[in-house]
Amino acid sequence: MRAIVTGAGGQVGRELVELLVARDRRDDVIVAADHATMDLADRDAVLGTICSVEPEVVFHVGAFTAVDRCESEADHAYAVNALGTRHVADACRRVGAHLVYVSTDYVFDGTKATPYHEWDSPNPQSVYGRSKLGGEAACGPEATIVRTSWVCGRYGPNMVRTVLRAAANPGTMHFVHDQIGHPTFADDLAGMLLRLGIDRRPGIFHVTNAGAVSWFEFVQAILEAAGDDPARVLPISTAELDPPRPAPRPANSVLDNTALRLSGLEPLDHFRVPLARLVSYLQAP
Ligand SMILES: NC(=O)c1ccc[n+]([C@@H]2O[C@H](COP(=O)([O-])OP(=O)(O)OC[C@H]3O[C@@H](n4cnc5c(N)ncnc54)[C@H](OP(=O)(O)O)[C@@H]3O)[C@@H](O)[C@H]2O)c1
Repeated sequence: MRAIVTGAGGQVGRELVELLVARDRRDDVIVAADHATMDLADRDAVLGTICSVEPEVVFHVGAFTAVDRCESEADHAYAVNALGTRHVADACRRVGAHLVYVSTDYVFDGTKATPYHEWDSPNPQSVYGRSKLGGEAACGPEATIVRTSWVCGRYGPNMVRTVLRAAANPGTMHFVHDQIGHPTFADDLAGMLLRLGIDRRPGIFHVTNAGAVSWFEFVQAILEAAGDDPARVLPISTAELDPPRPAPRPANSVLDNTALRLSGLEPLDHFRVPLARLVSYLQAP
């Protein structure tokens, strides 16, 4: 396989590059395109890189993911997430590469009473969500679009790392109980991105680990996995956050993996399985 991974320095990108390299296939060419190598907002850089490598698959993982900063840096968010994805899709069409684009639960407004499936109408409430939806629109009908949520992994800042660091100090912590979602672990997600990319499956897929929880309940689970006392976390409401976050979060982020299930593809594990794996990795001396 000849493949390019965009955003190769991020938490999902690094896992995916490691997974691709670990396959150790003799003829594989894996190009890890991080921010410094290929700025997604730079059309010449994107077309130049992809057209010279001539990959079979482009795993487009890179994005401007600072959700709150997107509110005040909207032009930059659209330049990277929406227009940048248009550049990637354009290059893929020129070389006949299959595009796998990673999108987000933030394309939904979070008001639905039940989990979101792939055929629900998006209605993003934040600049980040709107810019990522703009990326989806740029992909074209043949691309694979993978929406995921609440990503944690070995690399980069995420909730598991934050909680383990906070738990090293005495005292209680507060997390919101009125936002629910599916925690997703970068290594499991990378495996499914690879699978869908190899299969060249077109269309939208929700890909998350199983088990819907609030952030408060997720932090309880992290503390339990770390052998700590889950009573150290207390629930608060989003309205009680001080200061309030600039970008609105969907109250219901739960993505039902309907398309995977109906396609007969094995769903990812319950989140407690990769959570235990990640906590023991992070706690290892
Ligand atoms: N994290 C989540 O909870 C979550 C949830 C749903 C969907 N997603 C989506 O999943 C994908 C992977 O997220 P992640 O958690 O791995 O995020 P991440 O750790 O922030 O990785 C994103 C990578 O993209 C790079 N990037 C940013 N601007 C760029 C630009 N202009 N040109 C090239 N690269 C650029 C970043 O590099 P720098 O850091 O050097 O700028 C970073 O390495 C993203 O598409 C994101 O939208 C994430």
